[in-house]
Amino acid sequence: MNFEQVIYSRRSVREFTTQSIDEMTLRQLIDAAIQAPSAVNEQAWSFVVVQDKRLLSRISSLAKAHMLTAPPTGVVSQHFQELLSDPNFDIFYGAPALIVISSTTVGPWATENCALAAENLMLAACSVGLGTCWIGFAQTWLGTADGRAALDLPASCLPVAPIIVGHPKSAPPPVPRREPEIRWIAP
Ligand SMILES: Cc1cc2nc3c(=O)[nH]c(=O)nc-3n(C[C@H](O)[C@H](O)[C@H](O)COP(=O)(O)O)c2cc1C
Repeated sequence: MNFEQVIYSRRSVREFTTQSIDEMTLRQLIDAAIQAPSAVNEQAWSFVVVQDKRLLSRISSLAKAHMLTAPPTGVVSQHFQELLSDPNFDIFYGAPALIVISSTTVGPWATENCALAAENLMLAACSVGLGTCWIGFAQTWLGTADGRAALDLPASCLPVAPIIVGHPKSAPPPVPRREPEIRWIAP
């Protein structure tokens, strides 16, 4: 795939085959992630790869419960309430791997650094035929003391980008983009 194909064909994937992903491929995705720019070139990110299905299921249950009791501002909707209350809803969609990108500092650009690494990782995955999806539902619980403990992360780390990775079951549907709002300021 060339650059344009990757940019235009990456879509969030929510259906996966049961095929696992080998360590070398996961390392290649992380290597692509760390090519991202970072503020003051701090490279203040760390990666946790979870492939333990029992842990993924536990995180899904606890993150759903946490989202219902303490939803982030602006995330309350009837649809989300129903989804998060459904015991059969797996926030990780059965993906064989979750890569959590965390900031190792609490500096002003902690989120930006990790988000850029996450996009690199998602594009790299797309280029080798893998599917990814950023799972915001997991984010708030992973940031709690229990969440950090589940990932074996020190208290100084802030989980920013939980990205599931797997082999797509089918091609995800297109997600049309709205016309961008552009203001041209010409001389
Ligand atoms: C910060 C962030 C959080 C997201 N959280 C979720 C999530 O919890 N569950 C989910 O299914 N998709 C999640 N997504 C995926 C978006 O729904 C998706 O990117 C959007 O609908 C556009 O579709 P596309 O990625 O296929 O282009 C998230 C995306 C971002 C950037």
